Amino acid sequence: MALYLNAAFVFAGLTAVLAIGLIVAERFLVNYGICKLDINAGEEPLEVEGGQTLLSALYANEIFIPSACGGKGSCGFCKITVTSGGGPLLPIEKPFLTRNEIRSDVRLACQVKIREDIFVRIPSDLLNVKLFDASVEAVRELTYDMKEVRFKISDPEGILQRPGQYVQVQAPSPEGPIFRAYSISSPAYETDVVELVVRQIPDGICSTYIHNLQEGDAVTFTGPYGEFYLNEDPDTEIVCVGGGAGMAPMKNIIYSLYDKQPDRVCWLFFGCRTTQDIFYLEEFKELAEKYPNFNLIYALSD
Ligand SMILES: Cc1cc2nc3c(=O)[nH]c(=O)nc-3n(C[C@H](O)[C@H](O)[C@H](O)COP(=O)(O)OP(=O)(O)OC[C@H]3O[C@@H](n4cnc5c(N)ncnc54)[C@H](O)[C@@H]3O)c2cc1C
Ligand code: FES
Repeated sequence: MALYLNAAFVFAGLTAVLAIGLIVAERFLVNYGICKLDINAGEEPLEVEGGQTLLSALYANEIFIPSACGGKGSCGFCKITVTSGGGPLLPIEKPFLTRNEIRSDVRLACQVKIREDIFVRIPSDLLNVKLFDASVEAVRELTYDMKEVRFKISDPEGILQRPGQYVQVQAPSPEGPIFRAYSISSPAYETDVVELVVRQIPDGICSTYIHNLQEGDAVTFTGPYGEFYLNEDPDTEIVCVGGGAGMAPMKNIIYSLYDKQPDRVCWLFFGCRTTQDIFYLEEFKELAEKYPNFNLIYALSD
């Protein structure tokens, strides 16, 4: 028995050493040179340095793919179609992909390393995502762990968002900048502002960074992202159900809705634990008085 265990440990040790050796060799010894990165069968492919991930190469060329985990392969947000040159599908990618996506060459951009010319397809919505520089316009405490933070955008063109979409805020961390997703809570007609409703997560890098921001501080974010947004069909009744930071996209959807379509029927069900967790109640009561088709229900569990 001891002999078998020893053999297993030696084998595992050798495999680990070999794997580390290969990673080091690839990092320092292999030079893939300049590779072509073709997007949507474009006439002029980008020229990028081989050896980096597809996500990094796209980011360096101001093409921003959602990446809530910052490229660690744990969020599954960075899906794009790689028609050629992406190498074999990695085991880390499989749990995030449906069978249909695998058949359609969908990959996680953060896991695909560029080793040769590569051909990808990116939806036009994602090609319109921009990087924004902004400054903190206002900070408001909503509850003991929830803050509303308003970012004033420097670019005079502002942001064109669909109510329900989100941005990715950049925060500093010991390992370099990280990105986290936050739903936009300001309505679509406020094009010069992005407002967020952020819950403080204990020891959370980005939520702590946002909670410590002061008026006038500079911030960077990319967006807008996301396929969850307001259905503009005038005959569709809207039902919003959520709690805590889930308020952010619902607030955006509701205010955007009544700005454009004041006769639409909408229900808001907002769940809280205690009265301490309640916020925006007065604002929504005012809205419900103005728009009789807006129905407001706050529910407390404790
Ligand atoms: C599409 C999308 C929209 C989002 N919109 C919002 C929003 O409007 N407002 C908002 O506040 N958040 C929102 N989030 C969550 C947000 O992106 C971050 O995940 C969250 O703020 C934690 O990030 P962090 O850097 O502070 O924590 P991290 O440093 O990433 O995590 C620190 C620790 O906290 C744990 N943790 C992470 N998230 C949670 C959580 N939610 N509850 C408990 N523990 C957690 C982690 O496992 C880790 O152990 C959204 C997420 C997505 C994917
Ligand atoms: S960025 Fe999260 S899985 Fe790729």
